Order: sequence, then C-alpha cells, then structure tokens
Amino acid sequence: MAESHEKIILEIGFGNGENTSFLAAKNPNALIIASEVYLSGIGSLLNSIAQNSLNNIKIYDDDVRELILNLPKNIFDEVYIICPDPWPKARHHKRRLIKHDFLKILAKVLKKDGTVYISTDWENYAESIEEEIANTKEHFSFQQISNDGMFITRFQQRAINEGRSIHTFLLKVLKK
Ligand SMILES: C[S@@+](CC[C@H](N)C(=O)[O-])C[C@H]1O[C@@H](n2cnc3c(N)ncnc32)[C@H](O)[C@@H]1O
Repeated sequence: MAESHEKIILEIGFGNGENTSFLAAKNPNALIIASEVYLSGIGSLLNSIAQNSLNNIKIYDDDVRELILNLPKNIFDEVYIICPDPWPKARHHKRRLIKHDFLKILAKVLKKDGTVYISTDWENYAESIEEEIANTKEHFSFQQISNDGMFITRFQQRAINEGRSIHTFLLKVLKK
C-alpha cells in the first residue's frame, strides 16, 4: 500500500465526504483512507467517487479507533478531523474523540513529520482540544491556524453562517 502512493491521508468522520473528494482530486497520487460510521454519508461519498471517477479513496465504515489500533506504525502523512462530534453536554464530554489516549495512538500511525489537522466550531471543545494536545506534547507540537485556502465543509459553513468562529489546530508529530 505505502509503496505505490506518494502519500497516505486519513480523514476521520468524513460526514458526507465533500472534503474527502476534494482531497482525492487535489492529490491524485495519494491514497485517501476515509472513515465514517454514518451510512447515509458513506452513500454520498460513494456517489461522489462514481460521479468524479475517483480511484484513490478507500472507505472504512466503522469506528476509526479500531482501525488505528490494528494498523502498522508510521503509515500516514496527513490526518484530517473536521468538526468532530462536540458532545456539548458536560456529562457527555468523556465521549469526545480528541483525548490524550486517542492522540497517543494517532501519533504511532503517523510518519515522521506527519501532520494532523483538527477543526471545530465549538468554543468549549476547542479549549478542551488545546488542553489534550498540550497534555500530549511529548508526541506533538501544534499551532492554531486560519482556514484560508482550506476546503470548508458543510458543518464549518453552517457555523460561519451562524456567526460562530472556527478553531483550527495543525499538529506536527515529533519523531526522530
Ligand atoms: C459533526 S460530523 C462532521 C462531518 C464532516 N467532517 C464535516 O465537517 O462536514 C462528525 C462525524 O464524525 C463521525 N464519527 C464520530 N465518531 C467517529 C468514529 N469513532 N469513527 C469514525 N467516524 C466517526 C460521525 O458519524 C459524524 O458523521
């Protein structure tokens, strides 16, 4: 798999797959692994793959954490997590994906100099993401970036239309 592609990109929770199709078209020599559990979204991406004759996307239709735990180390160049479910109620915060333990397993499957793009439109989740990344500083450096030039997904566009800010983090894995 790794040998025949210029790079390997993982998108987690692709929703309807608009960003996945964008990434696949922009990076024709890359392999895009796209993970989503929402069946209707998977159908939308399959439709886009057929309509745009995309041949560099593989879909994983289950919990991404299972996938990552079963992959070899050092395979992804880039990971995208756009608008992960915010679980806004305090009692549900423990269900949030972006946690120290998850970031640790993500670091293992990233190649040296690999990056993770995480974007959320929930102020409170953004604060928590920043804390979780800071708690994982042995594995990642990070900066907050603007979305200029990035593809804007349906969820991000809704936030913009409602006047909410989007908080985007770019993590770089630290490996020798
Ligand atoms: C709020 S939506 C954002 C969708 C898309 N990224 C966008 O910005 O339009 C979050 C998506 O993540 C998916 N998701 C949540 N947990 C997941 C997991 N553990 N593995 C794969 N997908 C997951 C959900 O099914 C949902 O479609």
